[in-house]
Amino acid sequence: MEHLDTRGREVGPDVEGLDIDGLAAEAEQAVAHASSTAALAQLETEYLGKRSALTRAHRTLGGLDPEARKEAGRRLHEVRAHLVAGLGTRRAELAAAERAASLRADRLDLTEVVPEDVRSAAARGHLHLVTQARAELEDVFVGMGFTVAEGPEAETDWYNFEALNIPPAHPARGMWDTMYLDLGEPETVLLRTHTSPVQIHLMEEAVRAGTLPIHAVMPGKCFRLDTPDARHLPVFNQIEGLVVDRGITFGDLAGTIQVFTEAYFGPGMESRLRPGYFPFTEPSAEFEITCTLCLGEGCRTCSHSGWIELGGCGMVDPAVFDAVGVDATEWSGFAFGFGIDRLAQMRHAVPDMRSFLENDIRFLTQF
Ligand code: DAH
Repeated sequence: MEHLDTRGREVGPDVEGLDIDGLAAEAEQAVAHASSTAALAQLETEYLGKRSALTRAHRTLGGLDPEARKEAGRRLHEVRAHLVAGLGTRRAELAAAERAASLRADRLDLTEVVPEDVRSAAARGHLHLVTQARAELEDVFVGMGFTVAEGPEAETDWYNFEALNIPPAHPARGMWDTMYLDLGEPETVLLRTHTSPVQIHLMEEAVRAGTLPIHAVMPGKCFRLDTPDARHLPVFNQIEGLVVDRGITFGDLAGTIQVFTEAYFGPGMESRLRPGYFPFTEPSAEFEITCTLCLGEGCRTCSHSGWIELGGCGMVDPAVFDAVGVDATEWSGFAFGFGIDRLAQMRHAVPDMRSFLENDIRFLTQF
């Protein structure tokens, strides 16, 4: 009979040559010190597998006499059962520890607060300068008691011109050349050249619904066949104002423009009206404000006058009231309109308006 040592190596003739207690103690130690379930699997093969000392000792039992075989068999079984139980316990411990460690490693803390310096380093966008200017203007006018309204960007000839007292072939059409749309409609449709047609929509609605008076501002995009240069873009933004009420005078217009000028540009900024011409207002004026660059001292931008022109205004022409069915003997009103892009350009001393559309991030991020 072979004699086996604890590793199953042949050292002697029979099972009695195997140090069974030593093997049990050694295996127990090894299991206790195993540091992973993978190491444990190796120990299992080593101590209980087909080629292990225990298994090989089992095979030698047949050569023993019945009494010795029974005793040795019982002892081998005992050691094996003890080892199997020990492996099971240790495996459960190690598996739990391994699972906890992997959960810790995979943990995603959704409540984590990103530190301010990391957050501000991330690229975050903001509203375009012109959009900011539009929002500020709306705020100022809402603060003065105006409501905000919008109208379509494509208009019929009636809204953009005729109802505003600009009949076909009127010379004033020349300063509002634009893009005409061929939609197969009987009426002429065009991209609006100013926000003034929204006045017509508002008055028509108010007459229909019987909701006069009107105190509204109307911001939005406008289009003209202008070649882009430092002060012109073919697509730009205006804000229109319209007040229709009983007993409205030119004084109300002048006062409203002055209050707006100070509210938007700051205290001490002044406005003035100069005679002008628009087909839809009578009388008409161009309004100017203290030059934002030199504060009235006189500079190149204001041609040394101390003033810069902002927009047009005037008392609503009775012909416009007629076109929309407002009774001009009961109601009177004023209107004004000016460019938002132009305003933003002046306020921030932007040398060339084309910068607004060039999408140069170095320009845009300054505002
Ligand atoms: N619609 C004019 C333009 O685009 C600006 C304007 C002038 C608007 C006088 C008005 C106004 O409401 O009364 O040039």
